[in-house]
Amino acid sequence: MSTINFTYLPGDGIGPEVGAAAIAVLHAVADKFGHTLKAEQHLVGGAAIDAGLKPLPDESYQSAKRTGAILLGAVGGPKWDHLKGEERPELGSLLPLRKRLNLYANIRPCKPYPALIERAPLKRERLEGTDFVVIRELTGGIYFGKKGRDERGAFDECRYTEAEVERIAVKAFDLATTRRKKVTSVDKSNVLETSRLWRETVIKVAKNYPDVELEHLLVDAMTMHMLTRAQDFDVILTENMFGDILTDEASVLCGSMGVIPSASLSYGRPSKGVVGMYEPIHGSAPDIADQGKANPIAMILSAAWMLRLSFGLSAESEAIERAVEAALEGGHVTGDLGGSLSTQDVGDWIADHVISKQ
Ligand code: IPM
Ligand code: MG
Repeated sequence: MSTINFTYLPGDGIGPEVGAAAIAVLHAVADKFGHTLKAEQHLVGGAAIDAGLKPLPDESYQSAKRTGAILLGAVGGPKWDHLKGEERPELGSLLPLRKRLNLYANIRPCKPYPALIERAPLKRERLEGTDFVVIRELTGGIYFGKKGRDERGAFDECRYTEAEVERIAVKAFDLATTRRKKVTSVDKSNVLETSRLWRETVIKVAKNYPDVELEHLLVDAMTMHMLTRAQDFDVILTENMFGDILTDEASVLCGSMGVIPSASLSYGRPSKGVVGMYEPIHGSAPDIADQGKANPIAMILSAAWMLRLSFGLSAESEAIERAVEAALEGGHVTGDLGGSLSTQDVGDWIADHVISKQ
């Protein structure tokens, strides 16, 4: 029996709704497997701003730092679009959380569920058998370079150190050794100096993994290859902004953004274990907020990833993943996937399934 002590940051838009569904599922898991659930709920993003606080209040950050396991809904929305720079929910909360907790490895899977293949815009034969993972560098590059305005315009600097590239490349190769042993590194080395460093460093790291095949692709070409030969990829390794763009594209292969979880990880000393933030890859979807329409599956799967990666609870995590598959196969889903259940109903269905099946 363990205590699952984590920081819960529901955030904005549909965040609190999909969050409530995930919390219901976590309670079911805790009951079934005899664990104690201790969720420390805090404000983040626009919700914090509306409460008169900073986008990342100290309390929220301190809790995240202390528990080292964070379940986050989504942040941002048009309501806060007039704000500038770090007053904005994304720049003022999500990015500092990533940077200050050193969550440099962002992991986003792409393995279309059989039940959703028909919903994707590509032909079935282009999707069947697709199973890759994108490893996106998350704390460097253009997102965190110097940015600003001068009399002539604006600038965003893109920088990478060799150490930053090396540590993320190691994670990609380590993961590939447990899978189909192939890394596809994506850069723009025909134009960008940071990409030339990226490619050189990845080639150096690859020397320690003689069993892993390494392929390099330019990011513009990659956008096409992902649509025409998705099945060829195993681990896709890329820098921060290219990873942002490519993972939205990858979500289309899965038939819906609403079913894809993500983990953002930092690896400390072995005794301290992993620090992880888990969140759906979708955003705050303000247009459908507070209507019970949002699909909670990505958030529920993010909670499952938290159990596995931060708490070592693999059986619990698998119980959730099996329940999600059953929900998808049985059509116990929200309207975006052709079902008629509300956000909370999907959460409750999955929670009940976790409780009743083994
Ligand atoms: C993502 C999001 C964020 C990003 C935004 C909200 C800052 O698009 O996690 O993919 O660009 O990293
Ligand atoms: Mg994105």
